[in-house]
Amino acid sequence: MRRAIALALLLACGLAGLARAETPVLPPDQAALRDEMARIHAGHVDADALQRIDSDIAAMPAGAAHMGMATGAPYPSLKATQFTPAPAAQPPTSKWTRLASYAPDSPRADTAKADTPKAEVSKPDAPKAEAKPQRTYVGRETCESCHQQEATNWAHTIHAKVFQQNPRTELQAQNCEACHGPGSAHVEDPSDLTTIISFSKKSKTPVAEQNGQCLTCHAGGQRIFWHDSIHDSNQLGCADCHNPMTTFGARGLTARESINETCFQCHKAQHAEFARRSHMPLLEGKLSCTDCHNPHGSTTAPLLKADSVNEVCFTCHADKRGPFLFEHAPVRESCLNCHSPHGSNFENLLNAPRPVLCQQCHSQDGHPGSLLTAGNMARGPMPDPRLIATSCQTCHVNIHGSNSPSGARFER
Ligand code: HEC
Ligand code: HEC
Ligand code: HEC
Ligand code: HEC
Ligand code: HEC
Ligand code: HEC
Ligand code: HEC
Ligand code: HEC
Ligand code: HEC
Ligand code: HEC
Repeated sequence: MRRAIALALLLACGLAGLARAETPVLPPDQAALRDEMARIHAGHVDADALQRIDSDIAAMPAGAAHMGMATGAPYPSLKATQFTPAPAAQPPTSKWTRLASYAPDSPRADTAKADTPKAEVSKPDAPKAEAKPQRTYVGRETCESCHQQEATNWAHTIHAKVFQQNPRTELQAQNCEACHGPGSAHVEDPSDLTTIISFSKKSKTPVAEQNGQCLTCHAGGQRIFWHDSIHDSNQLGCADCHNPMTTFGARGLTARESINETCFQCHKAQHAEFARRSHMPLLEGKLSCTDCHNPHGSTTAPLLKADSVNEVCFTCHADKRGPFLFEHAPVRESCLNCHSPHGSNFENLLNAPRPVLCQQCHSQDGHPGSLLTAGNMARGPMPDPRLIATSCQTCHVNIHGSNSPSGARFER
């Protein structure tokens, strides 16, 4: 990144006929911004830092693009507003302007223009605020008077227990309204669904605003890479996978009875793969998608929970990690050279049947060239061991690596 900036600046200098060899010095605000970003990427996230970044970006000269952040268009990912408790009213904030275009029928879309100066957008929308009095919290009992069923179901969830018995913040103490936002306007006119933050299918609340509501409390942690993750950028809402209104499953307040069923709502192909002849016992309930994937985002595609495919596999198949005296190169590189993680119709999750699997990479060099006569073929009177049973592994047994002094060919 630093190099890219340096290059860009050098190029600009060059055009002006001033190309010099020194490293260009960033203006102080940008340099500070860059340091701050580096700290955040290293995991030191705090609301103050984000607030400073917001104001730094707002203060940057027009046209200056830095780390993909153009001034005017707010930096889309990390926003201080997520880390501060929700304000009493829920005015549209600049946070969601980038996404507002996805909900054109939203009543707030008109206020969300990417090129509106940031400072103005983040203030409560003046004309609307005049037209409508500030929304206030009305309390759970009021909600309950009309939503008895929902309140009863919700009472058994972890949120209810924490919010009611031991609220740790003022927002938590708002119970229903901690998620649904202040309800005074909704109570006055329940038929207007734009006045309440709603997460159901008929919701009028933009997805990004729904998610922002959950993220006021759940930013960071497993969700440190939520923003712009493949699920975020495909407009998934927290409520696609979570239903906090009741307890359907054992853990994670999932929208379906199990984690796997929750994922299968959309990932039908993977469901089919796990039903193949050879598969890890996921449908049997011993494994779940989240043993290998983090649905909230990851730096390793596709949403993997570790730094590489192999590291994911080693969490359970530790014996394959080694160290080995003789390593088999494709195993070190990636288990996926030979295995399909979700299932295969060949034994042992293999990508291809043996000997074809091995022959994708190996020729017959070093072996007698005997696979020439009908008698050597699999159905002949003297079938070659390379063609039957475990095929190549009849002799090359320790295919994942060997610790035997004479195991260079993985024969022992
Ligand atoms: C006066 C009765 C009444 C009160 C009090 C009330 N609601 Fe509602 N609420 C309704 C009605 C009726 C609907 C259905 C509107 C519709 O579907 O058109 C509704 C809809 C909703 C929805 C949207 C459901 C959806 O499918 O999108 C949410 C969320 C909601 N209420 C939450 C709350 C919360 C939180 C409170 C307390 C702050 C509350 N309600 C208080 C009557 C009430
Ligand atoms: C932790 C956040 C959270 C809290 C607290 C919460 N809700 Fe919800 N509520 C949701 C989500 C998410 C949905 C959408 C569920 C879905 O997928 O249909 C929802 C849905 C609803 C609906 C729409 C009907 C439905 O089931 O889809 C109503 C009405 C509602 N909530 C009322 C309430 C009331 C009343 C309370 C307090 C007793 C409450 N909520 C507390 C998050 C919350
Ligand atoms: C006001 C703060 C707050 C808001 C808003 C909030 N939560 Fe929570 N949530 C909590 C707390 C507190 C817990 C209890 C566990 C903990 O301390 O981490 C929790 C727990 C959870 C859990 C873990 C459940 C388990 O079985 O371990 C899930 C999942 C969850 N919330 C999802 C959501 C979703 C989805 C939303 C938005 C619809 C949401 N939360 C909104 C505070 C909040
Ligand atoms: C694609 C599905 C999916 C989406 C979208 C999703 N989650 Fe989750 N989430 C899960 C699953 C599955 C688990 C359970 C993980 C486990 O227990 O292994 C989980 C666990 C959690 C937990 C409890 C564990 C923890 O990290 O403390 C919280 C809190 C949570 N999610 C919040 C959120 C919020 C907030 C959003 C929206 C920004 C969100 N989730 C979006 C699938 C999803
Ligand atoms: C509401 C639908 C929905 C649900 C539920 C859902 N996903 Fe996804 N998921 C998507 C979409 C859409 C994509 C993007 C697909 C694409 O671009 O090809 C995706 C992509 C993925 C990818 C591929 C990432 C990549 O880089 O190619 C993984 C892995 C994934 N989801 C895992 C999960 C897991 C695990 C769960 C359950 C916890 C889950 N999903 C639940 C809709 C969903
Ligand atoms: C044993 C670990 C593991 C489990 C369990 C697992 N996956 Fe995967 N998944 C992977 C790996 C590794 C890849 C990368 C495959 C590749 O790059 O070819 C992947 C790829 C994906 C992709 C990207 C498209 C594709 O198929 O290559 C999606 C979507 C996906 N997984 C969804 C799921 C869902 C949904 C579940 C639960 C039903 C699940 N995975 C369970 C390891 C796993
Ligand atoms: C969460 C634990 C877990 C992870 C992570 C995991 N596995 Fe497995 N794997 C299992 C279990 C459990 C079995 C079944 C063992 C048995 O039946 O004795 C299994 C079986 C297998 C088998 C044998 C299948 C058969 O048909 O006998 C292969 C091959 C395999 N895993 C490869 C992988 C690869 C490759 C990865 C990484 C993408 C991986 N595993 C990640 C738990 C895991
Ligand atoms: C060069 C191809 C190849 C690569 C790469 C490979 N495997 Fe295998 N694997 C096989 C073959 C062939 C079998 C079945 C024969 C056997 O039992 O050893 C197998 C079997 C397995 C089994 C089930 C039997 C057992 O030994 O437990 C597991 C688990 C397994 N592999 C895990 C892995 C993991 C984890 C990786 C990545 C570190 C990996 N494999 C990489 C070829 C490969
Ligand atoms: C993705 C390609 C690939 C696949 C598939 C593959 N191998 Fe290999 N194999 C290699 C590479 C690369 C080496 C290292 C060659 C070297 O060091 O010169 C190797 C080394 C070996 C060696 C040691 C050879 C030597 O010269 O030291 C044996 C034996 C071997 N593989 C057997 C197998 C068998 C049996 C299978 C099928 C189960 C198989 N391989 C699958 C790529 C592969
Ligand atoms: C009957 C036992 C046997 C079977 C079956 C067998 N091999 Fe071998 N293989 C050997 C022996 C023994 C050597 C060592 C030859 C040497 O040291 O010169 C060897 C050597 C190799 C080598 C190293 C070649 C070299 O140039 O040093 C590779 C690669 C290899 N085998 C791959 C395979 C593949 C792929 C298959 C399946 C198509 C297979 N083998 C089946 C016994 C076998």
